[in-house]
Amino acid sequence: MKKMKGLIPAAGMGTRLGPIALAIPKELLMVGDKACIEHVVEAFKLADITDIIIVVGWRKHAILDYFGSGKRLDVNITYIVQDERNGLAKAVECGKNALNHNSFAVILGDNFFYPKTFLKELITFHKKKQSECTVGVTPMKDVSSYGVIKPRGEIIIDIVEKPKPKDAPSNLACAGIYVFKPSIFDAIKKTKPDANNEYQLTDSIKWMIEEKKPVFYKELKGRHIDIGSPERLKMANKFFSQKM
Ligand code: G1P
Repeated sequence: MKKMKGLIPAAGMGTRLGPIALAIPKELLMVGDKACIEHVVEAFKLADITDIIIVVGWRKHAILDYFGSGKRLDVNITYIVQDERNGLAKAVECGKNALNHNSFAVILGDNFFYPKTFLKELITFHKKKQSECTVGVTPMKDVSSYGVIKPRGEIIIDIVEKPKPKDAPSNLACAGIYVFKPSIFDAIKKTKPDANNEYQLTDSIKWMIEEKKPVFYKELKGRHIDIGSPERLKMANKFFSQKM
C-alpha cells in the first residue's frame, strides 16, 4: 500500500472574518505562535503524512510564501489552484490527479484542533473498519454552521449541510476532517450544486451513503474550533494560551 497523502483545502473566501480576510488568507491567521494551517500540517506529520497538497485560490499566494516547499517543516508541499470558488467538494476534486488513486486524509486549513493526534486515531479507525469515507465529528450546541450527521451505531445514515436548528439530525457536527478512499471522486462527480451554486462535500458523502458504501464517523476527543469568524478566532487563541 502506498503512503497516504494529505489534502488541505484553503481556497475559501473567509467572508465572515470581515476585511482582514481580504488581505490575509484566513488559514494564515495566527492561533498562538503560528498560522492556523501550520497546526494542520503538524497534525498530518503526527499521522506520518508528509506529502501534502494544499488547494489554494485567488488571494492565497501568501500561503506559498509561508510554507515554500515545506522544507522548514520537513514535509513536501504541492500547491494546486482552484480557479473557481465553487465549493469544498470541488476543492477536494482539484487534488484528484496528485492523489493518484490512493486513499487520503483531508483537514480544512481554517480549523484548529487540540490535541493534534486526532488524525492518526481517525486513520487507524478508518483502516480497521475498511471504510470508504470516515468523518471526524464533534458534539456542538449550535450545529447550524456545520455539516451534521445522523448516526446509527458507528455508521452515518444521513448527513445535512448547515441545517436549521430544528432540522438538525443530531448534535454531531463535521469537524472539517475526513479520510477517503478514491471512490469519493465518483461521488463528487455525481454531486449537484446547492442553491448558491456550491458543490458541498456533505452532498458527495450523502451520495456515498445512498449508494450503500460504508461511511463511518468518529467522535474526536479534545477541542475543535473553526476560526472562520472573529469570535471563534479569538476563542482559539484563548484556548491556545490556556493550554500551552
Ligand atoms: C465546511 C463544511 C462543513 C463543516 C465545516 C467545518 O463549512 O462544509 O460541513 O462542518 O467546514 O468547519 P464552512 O466552514 O466552509 O462553511
